[in-house]
Amino acid sequence: MTRKIRYGGDYNPEQWPESVQDEDHRLFTAAGIDTLTVGVFSWSLTQPAEDTYDFTALDRILDRAAAEDRQVCLATGTAALPPWLAKKYPEVNRTDFEGRRHRYGQRHNFCPSSPAYRRLATALAARLAERYADHPALLAWHINNEYGGVCYCELCAEAFRGWLRDKFEGDLDALNDAWWTTFWSHRYTDWAEIEPPSALTEHWRGPDHTAFQGITLDYFRFTTDALLGCFLAEKEVIRAHDPETPVTTNFMGMFRPLDYHRWAPHLDFASWDSYPPLDAPPTWPALAHDLMRGLKDGAPFWLMEQTPSTTACRDVNPLRRPGELRLATFQAIAHGADAALYFQMRASRGACEKYHGAVIGHAGRDDTRVFREVAALGRDLAGLGDAVLGARTPARTALVFDWDSWWALEISDGPSRLVKYQEVVHAYYRAAREAGADVDVVPQTADLTPYDVVLAPVLHLVKGDLAERLEAVAERGGTVLTTFLSGRVDEHDRAFLADVPGPLASLMGIRIDEWDSRPPGFIQPIPELESEGRLVFEIVQLRGAETVATYGTDFYAGIAAVTRNRYGLGEGWYVATALDQPGVDQVVRRVLSRHDLIGPYIEHKGLEAATRIAPDGTRLLFLLNHTEEAAHLKACTSATDLLTGKQTEAGAPFTLDPRGVAVLRLQ
Ligand code: GLA
Ligand code: ZN
Repeated sequence: MTRKIRYGGDYNPEQWPESVQDEDHRLFTAAGIDTLTVGVFSWSLTQPAEDTYDFTALDRILDRAAAEDRQVCLATGTAALPPWLAKKYPEVNRTDFEGRRHRYGQRHNFCPSSPAYRRLATALAARLAERYADHPALLAWHINNEYGGVCYCELCAEAFRGWLRDKFEGDLDALNDAWWTTFWSHRYTDWAEIEPPSALTEHWRGPDHTAFQGITLDYFRFTTDALLGCFLAEKEVIRAHDPETPVTTNFMGMFRPLDYHRWAPHLDFASWDSYPPLDAPPTWPALAHDLMRGLKDGAPFWLMEQTPSTTACRDVNPLRRPGELRLATFQAIAHGADAALYFQMRASRGACEKYHGAVIGHAGRDDTRVFREVAALGRDLAGLGDAVLGARTPARTALVFDWDSWWALEISDGPSRLVKYQEVVHAYYRAAREAGADVDVVPQTADLTPYDVVLAPVLHLVKGDLAERLEAVAERGGTVLTTFLSGRVDEHDRAFLADVPGPLASLMGIRIDEWDSRPPGFIQPIPELESEGRLVFEIVQLRGAETVATYGTDFYAGIAAVTRNRYGLGEGWYVATALDQPGVDQVVRRVLSRHDLIGPYIEHKGLEAATRIAPDGTRLLFLLNHTEEAAHLKACTSATDLLTGKQTEAGAPFTLDPRGVAVLRLQ
């Protein structure tokens, strides 16, 4: 098979009579489909009873794929339980936040601590690996599907206690200290007294309102590790039969419940499903792509799912406009995808996803607009060949993304329930991207030495040696930016016994004693930026830093809202309020221009530029026109558009169609 960006998607022919596969494959060929994700929801067929396995359907699917010269991403199928399993072992059904033990239904519903689930899921994965490890169609393993959800059953409670014993090395006093249990008389004298934090125990008004942040944080971490444990158990048995084929599971981008950074080392490659929120600006999926690329240190990832046309699960499910699918796909590639797959290849006839967009609809036609666009994109990808495979992003700007900070910020009582981690992080990411900077989205533990600029907005929880590594960035001449509600708590959510912003205070050259939090309608003018602040207003005292902008009203009028501190050869910038986007844009542009990181096309609103470097050193510039108007541009260097073969000389004008894409090989 030729080396190229993988193209295809979730394929469930087991839902159909065998003869439908003939038609499917005819259409796949017409659309340039080379990769099929199969078996995601076939547990009840492959194992109709505990002691009966039946691989007839999967055998046919894989054999047929091989005969057609297509490859498969083979799922272990352990995300949707068969009914017999739930009936026979009721422990596999989850207990929810309110303490209700569920009965059989839906999917993604197993208790991660259930021994019966573990045993049966790994047994199935082992059988599949044994049977298909050497199958010519096998390309990758897809364990489970979109891991997520929380369980509060007795098995999980016991597993949580075990997890805590390990974490605190059997020292209950260390746990009492970490969770600050003397508050409200919570000192534990026995591990058995510990309960999962739920509506029946520490929570009020839902999962974000807890009496003990430390307990809730640890339950988030435990849940990540419990589901990761399920993944690792399956991976281990696959590896026993198949030492080589890469293993992944499909993530969900910015998905709050699971800390994907804890998970990342165990994936052979990252993959994720992109269903951007309605009306999200293009930088929203871009941030998620960069987060996913950051999981494996910048290595390419797979776009495991996207819809060719519409979703079905939302109240309203708008159609992707002509050209949108192609634009979104090239955006994923521009940010590091080397596979572009759909959910789904053929529309389900019944149940809740029958109206979900598919490459092949219920009528099976090859002359629909969607099919034509899918097929045209297939030709684009075939034409690109291996030109972008394995390419890396040469970012000099890093954005720190931290699940612990996300959780700690959003489960905190005070200063404000209205600050949303993703929104603040996205505002800074958006500012950097719209200024033309390539951005790596990295964990707190990342090596920061490759970067000139490190953006670390709402870094609420600071752990390990991060503060020193940020200082080192500034010392050698880089710029570090952080914002309000950063540097507040340690890894257990205990406040730092120091001036705010705790371990970041010396780098920022400031001290904060007070902060004001106001309702969403209240707006604080920031005159120097001709901008506005909202939600939280920290009152900054200068301790070496200089004022960049101030608050315009109230008793803290004239006090610094944005500061800059010279530190070593570099700078530390602090933004003490939730600035509006134009304010964030100005601050970030000033930071980027210090390092000459402003791109050439920033005057073109809605034009996205992203650079990748192919393994042979070729520089590729992706230009993506996210608007409905043609973009009239001037070439910065001589280049060849790999999609059209057209050459442009440096300085020559060229036009990008509405929603148009260019993949320029620079000379
Ligand atoms: C998820 C799942 C798929 C399907 C799609 C529909 O990503 O993994 O099985 O349900 O959503 O959008
Ligand atoms: Zn459970």
